[in-house]
Amino acid sequence: TGFTTLDYGFVNTAATKSDITYIDGDKGILRYRGYPIDHLATHSSYLEVAWLLIYGELPTADQLAEFDDKIRHHTLLHEDLKDRFFTALPHTAHPMAVLSSGVSALSTYYENESDPNNPEHVELNMIRLLAKLPVIAAYAHKKSVGQAFLYPDNSLSFVDNFLKLNFGVRSEDYQVDPVMSRALERLLILHEDHEQNASTSTVRLVGSTGADQFASISAGIHALSGPLHGGANEAVLTMLAQIQESGGGVKRFVEKVKNKEDGVKLMGFGHRVYKNYDPRATIVKQSADEVLEQLGVHDPLLDLAKELETIALEDDYFKERRLYPNVDFYTGVIYKAMGFPTRMFTVLFAIGRLPGWLAHWRELHQDPKTKIGRPQQLYTGSPERSYPGA
Ligand code: CMC
Repeated sequence: TGFTTLDYGFVNTAATKSDITYIDGDKGILRYRGYPIDHLATHSSYLEVAWLLIYGELPTADQLAEFDDKIRHHTLLHEDLKDRFFTALPHTAHPMAVLSSGVSALSTYYENESDPNNPEHVELNMIRLLAKLPVIAAYAHKKSVGQAFLYPDNSLSFVDNFLKLNFGVRSEDYQVDPVMSRALERLLILHEDHEQNASTSTVRLVGSTGADQFASISAGIHALSGPLHGGANEAVLTMLAQIQESGGGVKRFVEKVKNKEDGVKLMGFGHRVYKNYDPRATIVKQSADEVLEQLGVHDPLLDLAKELETIALEDDYFKERRLYPNVDFYTGVIYKAMGFPTRMFTVLFAIGRLPGWLAHWRELHQDPKTKIGRPQQLYTGSPERSYPGA
């Protein structure tokens, strides 16, 4: 009933109320549950922020310790999943496809414990997903480089365990580099939520049908994989490498973007909401310099990215359209310095975003106003006509 408004890309339409994340795109403000993102990125941990997003308050020390402990004790994958699922896929498989398929496959082990209306199931599956997604991600990485899978090491923190699963070759001989650990934790925190972005909206839409957390998160991972969304971090590095290889220079590339040649965009630039700057990008840019220096890496791609940013920010095309670097512009350079292959970058974004997805899924189910999501359309096709001979 009523009238239908056409709103391509939901530029003006709110599909829900939410208490989780606040963004002011003009002022470059991002807060999780009221806490400014820079405070959290500096002082908090991934799991503490996950708790904050999900439950609305910072955890007490005991609550956080219990949460952390539960997650450490749910890291194992079923042996069949560990040994057979990954071997069935080609080693060339994109890790994002492996990740979303892995979450779907995971759901088959918990079919009797995934009732969206059972609070115990919901709590347990949040823990399972937080614990197991990084393991599936690390195995996707190991598979792509042809190395053996390590078992999770529950004596390590969330981030250190993840680093060991990715970069350890033998269980006993991997020492986590604290610089890498802190840098990765900070990047994950920056990605933990971003209100109604495409993947979170996907999680909510799928969740609104009564589908369980695994189905909703798997769909969210697929939505995140696109180059206009989370896939942009991979696309930025590919773009930088192509500029470097082509030898055409940054100015030539910027001209190509401005002329919209072959639909080329400056990846890692622009945002639907941020029109002055992305506060996450400011923190990431600073981190990129610090982390590469601390890791002793000099990457010419970082210099290229900075040159590209400077030229773009002075150019009328980008000024008029209010296009600034977004969170994805500098993250890839840091992930590369850590040793992650380019195709793992969006997987890292997914691990970062998981707490936000879980928090939104939970909020959706706790809101008595929730209805199945079902956008309208304006029909522009043929009027009624007869089937030939009918
Ligand atoms: N390079 C060149 N031109 C651009 C770019 C870009 N990165 N972004 C937007 N524009 C142009 C666009 O062509 C349009 O120009 P015109 O008015 O001449 O047609 C104008 O700016 C407005 O853009 P829009 O497409 O209407 O903006 P949107 O809000 O629909 O899209 C966006 C937002 C992020 C999809 C887009 O800026 C983009 O494609 N950026 C590159 C991909 C990227 O970095 N994505 C990551 C986003 S942040 C993390 C995340 O969400 O996952």
